[in-house]
Amino acid sequence: MKKLISFLLLIFIGLSFAACTGGFSTTLFTTTDVATNDFMTDNETTVDSTTVGVTDTFPTTTITDPVTTAFTTIPITTTTWTTEDVTTTEPVDFINVLLASLTLREKASQMVQAERGSISNEQVTQYGIGSILSGGGSHPTAYDDSVDTWYNMYSNYQTAALNSSSGIPIIYGIDAVHGNNNLYGATIFPHNIGLGMTNNPELIYNISKATAEEMLVTGINWTFAPAFSVVQNIGWGRTYEGFSENPEIHVNLAQAAILEFEENGVSATAKHYLGDGGTVGGIDQGNVIGTEELIRQIHLAPYYQAVAAGVDTIMISYNSINGIKIHGSSYWINDVLKEEMGFDGFIISDWNAIHQLPGSFYDQVVSSVNAGIDMLMEPYDWAAAIDNIVLAVNNSDISVERIDDAVRRILTVKYERGLFDDPFYKLDSSYLYSQEHQDLARQAARESLVLLKNDNNSLPLSKNDNVYITGPASDNVGLLCSGWTTYWQGNPAADIGVGTSILDAMAGVLNTNSGTLSNSWQAADTVVIVLAENPYSEGVGDNSNPTLTNGNAHTQNYESLLLAQEAQNAGKNVVGVLVSGRPLLLENYLQYFDSFVAAWLPGSEGGLAISDLLFGDYDFVGKLSFTWPADVTQIGYTSNREDYDENYPLFPYGYGLKYN
Ligand code: BGC
Ligand code: BGC
Repeated sequence: MKKLISFLLLIFIGLSFAACTGGFSTTLFTTTDVATNDFMTDNETTVDSTTVGVTDTFPTTTITDPVTTAFTTIPITTTTWTTEDVTTTEPVDFINVLLASLTLREKASQMVQAERGSISNEQVTQYGIGSILSGGGSHPTAYDDSVDTWYNMYSNYQTAALNSSSGIPIIYGIDAVHGNNNLYGATIFPHNIGLGMTNNPELIYNISKATAEEMLVTGINWTFAPAFSVVQNIGWGRTYEGFSENPEIHVNLAQAAILEFEENGVSATAKHYLGDGGTVGGIDQGNVIGTEELIRQIHLAPYYQAVAAGVDTIMISYNSINGIKIHGSSYWINDVLKEEMGFDGFIISDWNAIHQLPGSFYDQVVSSVNAGIDMLMEPYDWAAAIDNIVLAVNNSDISVERIDDAVRRILTVKYERGLFDDPFYKLDSSYLYSQEHQDLARQAARESLVLLKNDNNSLPLSKNDNVYITGPASDNVGLLCSGWTTYWQGNPAADIGVGTSILDAMAGVLNTNSGTLSNSWQAADTVVIVLAENPYSEGVGDNSNPTLTNGNAHTQNYESLLLAQEAQNAGKNVVGVLVSGRPLLLENYLQYFDSFVAAWLPGSEGGLAISDLLFGDYDFVGKLSFTWPADVTQIGYTSNREDYDENYPLFPYGYGLKYN
């Protein structure tokens, strides 16, 4: 029996929307890609010898370009469920009946997720794929695509899925990790490191709601967030994705970071399970060494909260624990997460991650599915993944019960988030960068700032002051947002459609009072110097010596530090603001600043928030959720130690000054 609603929508969409082009790429990324932020559009066939980043994420097979298909030409096939079924049957019965009606191949397809750039609408219908994702910076056509372009892509895929033999809607996933950050014009919230400094669950709850709303303007209803990376080494390039070095802050914020997504019909993902923040040397995707007790106390703690909050999905981490890849660990997935903790959502692998397991691709599929992974994120090799699941069941290497368990979990999440009721659900675009969301992002940024030093009444500044503002992040919203902002590696060069720079925000205050924005430091009384890290994400940001001038540090920091020294010697009030994804080693530079503020990666409204605090409209409330090391030898010295000595690091966990 045909599903009436989807049939009518199909006709409507078929007639009114342009066909979606599934721009294909065999994406291998190179240094040029990093420089140009162009990861998703090349047709590169060789690996650049200076390839940066994660070497084992390259596709192993080539998939032919998908054919662009107009919807009206997709044949309408019979689906196995009806709208009446959804409304009149108990969920569990609906899912059982649906599951029983599926062929092995249809089930296997539900267990696989493809990247949008490598699957066409026609293939979605042909394969009945379970899920599609946008990787970091993977837009329908261009980085500044409109909400409508995003929704057209989404709804075209959804129509194609409803037309597959199983008729099961897809669930579309995206990394909305600080707002719906792949979407041009979306509100960009502070990265998690800043939210950890607020340690304010109510704020996190509201941000999750706002982010869900800004996702739903595009129809997309699955975020690969929140990350519960309990970061033990600030050299790790993903430090800013974690709230804190200490599990207590994760535990405090975990439920708030999940509940409002799911109450708004968006699935959340607790990631990356398990131990992503604990690798030796802070190496991305590396190995964690430790006793089981330690791993449970530090890294597992937030997942109890996530399961209690009913999180829909959990993403497995690339890393190993004591030499064993989590993607192949039946102990950590089946035994601990599913049996012991009772997690009843579904488990997704990370991007191409099962390719890092031993053996052939067939072996990798078998060991990951048997370890308890329910859906394979196979951006490029999705078709081969489906084939291998089918083959493995036919060979009795994977049991039918395991497949049914995985598919039941996936169908249940789809059901609970309303995909069977209304797969085309969307919110109107007035939610995008609404005033309410801007205010919330500004509040979040304000609460995340930490005042580290304030001598000589350096701060707050008078609004009648004569101020010179300089430094690499003083007039660049892209740097305030950093990685995972319109592009995977961030967007400091192009505009992101929203936001206010620090310079513009402070100039606004000075100009509406009797202050002056000076154009030379010599003529000013106060010199504000905004230092920065260049944007990065994942392993690209790994840096074992993260100083103000080394590695990912902005190349203009050095000249700004020289200026700080000169201005200090000339008797100016020198204010430092650091925009960074982690505490940076300050070496001997702090002495040149009368006051110094850690701003983390405060997002699109960060400029206004910094201005609010520097001019004293609000007091500082942020407290360090990370220990600030005095030097490189102190990296890894965290508040999780029983013998933690607050006087040993430069600034201890929990530190933060206030005006009053
Ligand atoms: C990252 C995940 C992310 C996924 C999809 C992976 O490389 O580790 O955090 O969710 O890509 O973009
Ligand atoms: C994805 C990442 C992935 C990277 C490298 C990005 O587009 O979002 O998750 O790790 O590509 O292939």
